[in-house]
Amino acid sequence: MNRLAGKVALVTGAGRGIGAAIARAFAAEGAAVVLAELDGATAAAMARDIANACAGARTLAVQTDVTQPASLRAAVEEAQRAFGPVDVLVNNAGINVFADPLTMTDEDWRRCFAVDLDGVWNGCRAVLPGMVERRAGSIINIASTHAFQIIPGCFPYPVAKHGVIGLTRALGIEYAPQNVRVNAIAPGYIETQLTHDWWNAQPDPQAARKATLELPPMKRIGRPEEVAMTAVFLASDEAPFINASCITIDGGRTALHHE
Ligand SMILES: NC(=O)c1ccc[n+]([C@@H]2O[C@H](COP(=O)([O-])OP(=O)(O)OC[C@H]3O[C@@H](n4cnc5c(N)ncnc54)[C@H](O)[C@@H]3O)[C@@H](O)[C@H]2O)c1
Repeated sequence: MNRLAGKVALVTGAGRGIGAAIARAFAAEGAAVVLAELDGATAAAMARDIANACAGARTLAVQTDVTQPASLRAAVEEAQRAFGPVDVLVNNAGINVFADPLTMTDEDWRRCFAVDLDGVWNGCRAVLPGMVERRAGSIINIASTHAFQIIPGCFPYPVAKHGVIGLTRALGIEYAPQNVRVNAIAPGYIETQLTHDWWNAQPDPQAARKATLELPPMKRIGRPEEVAMTAVFLASDEAPFINASCITIDGGRTALHHE
């Protein structure tokens, strides 16, 4: 229960979904956790909920927009003032932008890249100077199986997620000599509000849900807690030689050719 004792972690987009599950799992393992989230109200409610659920947990909600470098810098400074230097960063905030390439607006392209790729870089840039100076740190970027496989009609989200893997590998190599590890997690379908919103946007939401559950060889989709367990591992001292890597969490779906 104390695999992250003494560590300070900042999780972006932690108001709900995968980010909230990671924040909760980190707190349960003894980390002080900053929930850096666009929606300040959900972040505050989640921070309270986690603190109530985990005895002795230290949580702090900071309204943060990952598309703004200054906002992330301010969140890191606030984390440092409250708990000390950030040891672990999880770049989790992300949005689905699914469009047809030729009818997509320029605004859709920019919105997708601003959150899904620039947001990850902004987070890295905010914590790296301190991590490099202290010669310790773990950065975990939440990518997606869209980072190496394409579903028609989901443009440009996979383009940004491919970039997240490139960024992870590049920074992992750049800062390996300073003992800063940069890794990614690539979830397949995970049941969160994002997934429910996508189902609800389909002509027949029930049929879309059923079809999604049929896709993985395990005939189910993942739970946010299943991503959080891997984030705990990568954040902990149990993964000291895992760097510039990506762990896929999809029940084997991307290994499946076809049924
Ligand atoms: N759910 C899935 O099936 C799935 C699969 C693969 C990858 N992912 C990735 O996992 C991450 C989390 O997804 P989720 O399903 O929990 O999504 P979600 O929509 O349930 O939660 C995302 C959170 O990020 C916050 N956010 C959005 N824009 C932000 C910004 N500019 N600054 C700060 N916070 C912001 C939202 O307010 C929300 O609380 C995303 O990067 C997503 O691409 C999700």
